[in-house]
Amino acid sequence: MQRKTYALINGDALTQNVLEIKKQYPDYEYYFGVVKNNAYHHGMKCVLDLIRGGVNYLAVSSLEEALQVRKYTSDTPVLCLEPIDLEYLLDAINNEITVTIDSLEYAKEVVKLDLFDLLKVHLAVDSGMRRLGFTTSKDFKEAYHLLKENPHVLIEGVFSHFATSGIMDPYWDKQVHTFLEITKDISLEEIPIVHFGRSLTLVNHEKLPFCNGIRLGIILYGFAQNMPDGHSLKSKFRIMKRRFLQKKYHCSETRLTNSLQLKTAMELYSTVMSVRKVHIGDVIGYTIYKVKEEGYVLTLPIGYADGVTRNFQEVYVKGKFLPIVADCMDMLLVFSPEKIAIGTEVEIFGAHIPISKVCFRIHTNAYHLFNQISHRVVRIHVHGREKEEIFY
Ligand SMILES: Cc1ncc(COP(=O)(O)O)c(C=O)c1O
Repeated sequence: MQRKTYALINGDALTQNVLEIKKQYPDYEYYFGVVKNNAYHHGMKCVLDLIRGGVNYLAVSSLEEALQVRKYTSDTPVLCLEPIDLEYLLDAINNEITVTIDSLEYAKEVVKLDLFDLLKVHLAVDSGMRRLGFTTSKDFKEAYHLLKENPHVLIEGVFSHFATSGIMDPYWDKQVHTFLEITKDISLEEIPIVHFGRSLTLVNHEKLPFCNGIRLGIILYGFAQNMPDGHSLKSKFRIMKRRFLQKKYHCSETRLTNSLQLKTAMELYSTVMSVRKVHIGDVIGYTIYKVKEEGYVLTLPIGYADGVTRNFQEVYVKGKFLPIVADCMDMLLVFSPEKIAIGTEVEIFGAHIPISKVCFRIHTNAYHLFNQISHRVVRIHVHGREKEEIFY
C-alpha cells in the first residue's frame, strides 16, 4: 500500500453479527446475505465471513457481482436479484447462479430457450415497491405454470421486498396482503424458499407464517434500528400515539426495540503526508479557511474522490479531535495547534468517531456512507490474524 489511506474491514465482526442475529432471530431457515455493490463496499471477501457466521444464501444485483462472489465460494447459492439478459443465462447456469423471474414476458422468453442444464429461478412479486416483479395474480400464475412445466427450470423461490419498515404503517400490511393476493393461485408451502427483505423486517416484525427466508443487508454490517421506549413524558406520549394509530389503522404488531449486540465492520484511516506551519490570517486550501490561531496544517491523502469531504468536520489523531478545514479531490487539510509527525495515523471514522456521528454530520445514513467510500481506498480485510490488502 503506497498511498496510506485504507478502510479496515473486520471480517470477524461480520461473522459475530450473523451469529448474534441468528441467535436472537432463529425462526428462519434461510438467511440471505445481501452483498451487492461489493458487500456494501466492504469488499466481496466478506462473503466468507458471512458464511462462517451462518448465512446460507447470498444475494447480489447483477451477474457480474454474482461472478465476483463465485471467486470466493463455489457452493453457497447466489441469487441475482435483478433479471439477467437472456443472452447471459448460460453464464448463470454454468456458475450456478439463481435467476430472478420478474414478469410473464421474461418467463415466456426463458422457456423458449434451448436449456440443457437446470436453471434455478426465484419469482419476484411486486408487493408495493413498484420496482420489479409480478403485479397481477394472472401473470404470476401463468408464468409459474409455464416455468414449472419446463424440465430445465426449477422454481426454488418466491420473494418480495418491502418498501417500508412497517412501523404504525398500514402500507406494510397492505404489502403483505398484496403478496398473498398475487400468489393466491399457487401453494406457497410447495415453494422451497419464500423470502422477504430487509433488515428492518427482521427486527420490527414477527416472521410471516408463510415465509422461511429473510434477506439481510445493512444489519450484517452492524446497523439495526433500535428505538427503546424511555420513561420521559415525551416517550410516554409517543407510545400512546403509536397505540392509537395502530388501533385506528389496524396495523400489525411491531417491535421497536431489540437487544442485538452488533459491531460495525468498517473503519477508515489515513496518514499525515505533509505538515506546514501556518499563522493567524493565512488562508488554507482553495482559500476556504482563514487561520485563527498559530499552528500547523496536516495534509492527508484522502479527499472527496475517496468519499470524504470537509463536512465530516473532524478527524481523530493521537488522542485529539482535530478540525478538517479544507478538502480537495485527493486530499484533506486538518488544523492542529501542535506539530504532528509525518506518517502519523489519522482516524476518519472508527473507534473514536462512530459512523453514526459521521452520518449525522453529513445528513445521510450508513447505506450511503459505505457506498460513498470509493474503490480507490484500499480495503484491509482482517480475519483472525490474517490481513489482506485488497484493491478493487
Ligand atoms: C431486494 C433487496 N433485498 C434485500 C435488501 C437488503 O436491505 P437492507 O440492507 O435494508 O437489509 C435490499 C437492499 O437494498 C434489496 O434491494
